[in-house]
Amino acid sequence: MFYVISEPDFGLKILNSLRCGILSVNLRRKITAINEIAIRIFELDNINHVGKQVEEVFGDQPQLLQILNDAYQMKNLPSRAELDLNIKDGSSRTVGYTISVIKKDDVDIEGISVFLKDLTLVEEMNEQEKLKDRLAALGQMAAGLAHEIRNPLAAIELTTSLIKRKLSEHPAHVSQLDSIHSEVRKMNKIVSDCLEFVRPVKVSTEKVDLQALLEECLTNSLSTVKKEGIQVRKTYYSMPPVFLDHNQMKQVFVNILINALQAIGQNGIIEVACGPSSLVQKNGSYSNAKHGETNLSLQVNLAPYAWVKIGDNGHGISEDFLSRIFYPFFTTKEKGSGIGLAIAQKIIDSHRGSIDVESEVGKGTTFIIKLPL
Ligand SMILES: Nc1ncnc2c1ncn2[C@@H]1O[C@H](COP(=O)(O)OP(=O)(O)O)[C@@H](O)[C@H]1O
Ligand SMILES: [Mg+2]
Repeated sequence: MFYVISEPDFGLKILNSLRCGILSVNLRRKITAINEIAIRIFELDNINHVGKQVEEVFGDQPQLLQILNDAYQMKNLPSRAELDLNIKDGSSRTVGYTISVIKKDDVDIEGISVFLKDLTLVEEMNEQEKLKDRLAALGQMAAGLAHEIRNPLAAIELTTSLIKRKLSEHPAHVSQLDSIHSEVRKMNKIVSDCLEFVRPVKVSTEKVDLQALLEECLTNSLSTVKKEGIQVRKTYYSMPPVFLDHNQMKQVFVNILINALQAIGQNGIIEVACGPSSLVQKNGSYSNAKHGETNLSLQVNLAPYAWVKIGDNGHGISEDFLSRIFYPFFTTKEKGSGIGLAIAQKIIDSHRGSIDVESEVGKGTTFIIKLPL
């Protein structure tokens, strides 16, 4: 029995709201129902197909026709099976389906119905999982390689130093040896960066005052990248201390601040802000999420978090590069390592936080970090 509220057409409302494709066919192989999702899954013209013969509508889907044919004879209907559909661009797509018979009464059958779910997304997610495994294996291999490369590099460095001492009276040779030295140092840096990225992050948390930490990071990065006439705008909202790994989070903020300082010209502006999730910054203005409608809807169901924004009015990042800036070794700088943001993301992940970026070429870039409170 299907128990339904006595409201007229309530059963139809449920059917209309189902988030899967529905197709039903009668004994004469005529379509008796088809919903919009099914039309989209089968890539049909968005018109009413009810009353048409299945062969006419699904002529290019032999597997589906076979299933519709076999359904009447099957003793045990599949409760969950997969079906490959041919789609217009010549490729195929996997959909999951369940099939049921529509009964007229206890004995007689009136037709069959098929419920469909597009599995393409599920398959893509499986692929992502596999990719993650492969990347983890690659990381292990890189760590192994880095270790192996370090020793020969140290040997080269030592030997060149010894030769340099012996050839001190031949300046031409000494300068050649110096360039070997400098290349070896570069390789050493790459190997160390690689090891640092691959090494698992161990988080040891303590109560940290975010505002004080940001101040410390600002002082630190402003002394590293010296530029004239920089303006720093700060907006700190009071909030309880956050449990963080102080040194690791310092590395995150310093990496982001140094990038911002490198992206701006003379007279550039750096904006640093932080606050609790109850106070969310939107387009430069602050509103109380408890009263601000737009923010409220986003806050529901979310555990409280602390947010940090670091923005600049520098050259910005093109759309093409934006998806790659967190990849290890992705850099657009002549002397960049491309490891800063990759490490920042890894550290934030291990704090169960998130990092987002918004950027417009010529206008600037803003990083938004959220950390659970
Ligand atoms: N604030 C920013 N403004 C413009 N580009 C940025 C900014 N932050 C990061 N980027 C881009 O992201 C890339 C990767 O950054 P990062 O991982 O820190 O490596 P690196 O600074 O060594 O290049 C940079 O090379 C740059 O292209
Ligand atoms: Mg950097």
